[in-house]
Amino acid sequence: MPVLHLLLRYTQALIAQVPVMPGAFNQVILNILVNAAHAIGEVVADAPLVKGKITLSTRKIGDIVEIRIQDTGGGIPENIRDRIFDPFFTTKIVGIGTGQGLAIAHDVIVKKHRGSISVESQDGIGTTFIVRLPLKLEETAVAA
Ligand SMILES: Nc1ncnc2c1ncn2[C@@H]1O[C@H](COP(=O)(O)OP(=O)(O)O)[C@@H](O)[C@H]1O
Ligand SMILES: [Mg+2]
Repeated sequence: MPVLHLLLRYTQALIAQVPVMPGAFNQVILNILVNAAHAIGEVVADAPLVKGKITLSTRKIGDIVEIRIQDTGGGIPENIRDRIFDPFFTTKIVGIGTGQGLAIAHDVIVKKHRGSISVESQDGIGTTFIVRLPLKLEETAVAA
C-alpha cells in the first residue's frame, strides 16, 4: 500500500533521530497496527460496504517525537480501557488474542525507552494510540 509505505518512511526518518531499539520498537508499532486491523475487521464484518482506515502520523514536539496511530474501529469500551495494558488481558477469542501485545508495548515504550503510551477512544468512532519518545534517551536513562 503506497500511502502507508510513504508514511512509514516519513516516520522512519523522524524515528531515526530517536535512539530506539529497532526490533522492540518495530514490534510495538506492529502490535498496535494489528490491533487496529482487528478492530476495523470487526466493524467491516458487520457492514461489508464499509471500509476502514488506519492513520499513522509522526511529529516532533520539542524534545519528544510523537507517533499517533488512529483507527476507525469500534473503539475500546470505557469500562475496559484501564485494563488493556495489563498482561494477558484480551477480549479476543483464543488463537486470535493473547493479551500480550499492549503489555509488551507498554514495557518497551515506558521501561526501555522512557517514553509514554496512551490511548484515546470513542465508541463507534475509533481509537488512537499515542506513543511519545524522548529524543535524548541516554541522558534520561542515566538520570533515572
Ligand atoms: N485499536 C483497538 N481498538 C479496539 N480495541 C482495542 C484496540 N487495541 C486494543 N484493544 C483492546 O485491548 C485488548 C488488549 O490488546 P492486546 O494487548 O494487543 O491483546 P490482544 O490483541 O491479543 O487481545 C484487546 O483485546 C482489545 O480489547
Ligand atoms: Mg494485540
